Amino acid sequence: MKTALITGCNRGLGAGIRNVLLKEGYRVIGLNRTLSKEKINNYVEIECDISNLQNIKESKKIITDKIDLLIINAGIRRFEKIENLSVSDWEASVNTNLNGAYYVLNLFIESIKETNGDIIIIGSHSEKYTFEKGGAYCSTKLALRGLAECLREELRYDDIRVSYLSLGSIKNRDHGIYEEWKLMPEEVGMAILNIIKLPKKVYIPYLDIRPLKPLKDDREGIEKLQYV
Ligand SMILES: NC(=O)c1ccc[n+]([C@@H]2O[C@H](COP(=O)([O-])OP(=O)(O)OC[C@H]3O[C@@H](n4cnc5c(N)ncnc54)[C@H](OP(=O)(O)O)[C@@H]3O)[C@@H](O)[C@H]2O)c1
Repeated sequence: MKTALITGCNRGLGAGIRNVLLKEGYRVIGLNRTLSKEKINNYVEIECDISNLQNIKESKKIITDKIDLLIINAGIRRFEKIENLSVSDWEASVNTNLNGAYYVLNLFIESIKETNGDIIIIGSHSEKYTFEKGGAYCSTKLALRGLAECLREELRYDDIRVSYLSLGSIKNRDHGIYEEWKLMPEEVGMAILNIIKLPKKVYIPYLDIRPLKPLKDDREGIEKLQYV
């Protein structure tokens, strides 16, 4: 049985990816800040704030499985004009979206090397479609792409594929409005499954995934991201 390690799979996109992998016969380990406490076969969650290096080190001690698939998913979105953005929101964004990704990769690459596994980095369209009030989110997702691209070069000759997914709008929760046009978390999970099932020599280091028919609208700011 293969094992996937996912950050932040108690809800939202991470939970959808988790469900697809469980259905596919993977064992899934979640590094979750908030435990979902769901009792699901082959699903284990470890309480872990990925912005806290010590938390990740402690989590790693508990994990005895070999890791075949590492998915860097956990992320936060803090939207404010840079002049009004609080230092704490800036730091939380960098510490979660960028430092957290680095901590997990830094500590788990050796596990992935044991299996010649795959690494999926959940990025966002915000790495290329910037918008006002997006300073903290856009810049950390763009930096994350830089990290993914360097890692790609470092690991390709170890037979490890690193894929950065630049994702459009995802229906990560029920907002009580019609949002079925968005990507469903499980649909992104299906895309991931297809990427990793390709013959190992076929490499998709960067993939743009978006809903086919976004709503047409003239909104501003973050809302614009939903219409590309
Ligand atoms: N939603 C979209 O339209 C969209 C589009 C493109 C890309 N993405 C990306 O997809 C990823 C998942 O987003 P989502 O839409 O599923 O958001 P979400 O519903 O807000 O879920 C975010 C997940 O990340 C976890 N998380 C946040 N900070 C964490 C930390 N310090 N340590 C551990 N886990 C932490 C959250 O845990 P808690 O429950 O503890 O908060 C939650 O499980 C993010 O990287 C996001 O940038 C989302």
